[in-house]
Amino acid sequence: MGRTSKDKRDIFYRLAKEQGWRARSAFKLLQAEETFHLLGGLTRAVDLCAAPGSWSQVLAKRMYEPLPPEERDKVKIIAVDLQGMAPIEGVTQLRADISKESTAEAIIKFFGGEKAQIVVSDGAPDSTGMHDFDAYVQGELLLSALSISTFILETGGSFVSKIYRADRTSRLYTQLKRFFKDVCVFKPSASRNSSIEAFVVARQFCLPEGHKPCNLITEWHDHPESWVCRKKENPPVVHVPFVAYKGDLDSDRTYDLGEDYVYKEPVQQPLTAAYQDILKKTSQINIKYEGIRVMHDEELFEEWFKAGVDQNSSHDAN
Ligand SMILES: C[S@@+](CC[C@H](N)C(=O)[O-])C[C@H]1O[C@@H](n2cnc3c(N)ncnc32)[C@H](O)[C@@H]1O
Repeated sequence: MGRTSKDKRDIFYRLAKEQGWRARSAFKLLQAEETFHLLGGLTRAVDLCAAPGSWSQVLAKRMYEPLPPEERDKVKIIAVDLQGMAPIEGVTQLRADISKESTAEAIIKFFGGEKAQIVVSDGAPDSTGMHDFDAYVQGELLLSALSISTFILETGGSFVSKIYRADRTSRLYTQLKRFFKDVCVFKPSASRNSSIEAFVVARQFCLPEGHKPCNLITEWHDHPESWVCRKKENPPVVHVPFVAYKGDLDSDRTYDLGEDYVYKEPVQQPLTAAYQDILKKTSQINIKYEGIRVMHDEELFEEWFKAGVDQNSSHDAN
């Protein structure tokens, strides 16, 4: 397979390179913007899970670049990710974990007493290939993004987040409905039909009376009955409208490149990739997949890994 094969198979990947976007994901936010008109006239935005930065590019293009240079300093856009990101004019970067309270505090500090008008989050874990597990972790990222929004979003503000449609999706909708008057699910044509990925577009943020901003994940796990479903056997049914973007281009189709086609390199190579470290480590050992152990503590992982290497034997990760 030549290097142009991905250009044929993925029209949005190709267009991203041609139009200067760092990732094809840019089209997902652009299509949401075309459908819901979320960004016009805004000056304060948070981009969570932002690397390599194509959504931040869209925010800068719509919120920062249209202003005359002397007015641009009133625009505040902050991009947060575990990974480093090449700079984007008009966007401040924070390298941090969105599930940590200190990250919410740093974002609040960035806005210096003001609140954001929109929070967007394209958060996704590195895929394990186990759909249920990936969807679970993605749901936690969505809840983290929502938690941060409860601290920083102004009344009437909007929230856009990736969501994997899986078992507990309807519970996630229930949470979103607690905080937003208008919630719908959006499927851009830049997102493949075959993918469980979709986006929630939630508008008109309003903190419920008596709700103090908090980490919703903790609340979810500690007191699920108080806010998810009162009766386990009879969970609430939540109806959420579904909106699909109907464009001319189909992300599941292969397009001919034509004879004059000139290959273009990606706009920005990732500065760091989360999986690089793991690849380096796993290249030295044999892992027999009998189960997955989730390590929350890096030191523990190091210890466990070192023990495996020292024994110089194959390793059961169970
Ligand atoms: C699909 S990519 C985002 C693409 C980005 N919206 C763009 O347009 O370029 C998902 C990102 O989520 C980030 N991520 C995953 N878990 C995170 C966490 N706990 N805190 C911060 N970022 C996280 C990953 O590092 C990755 O860069």
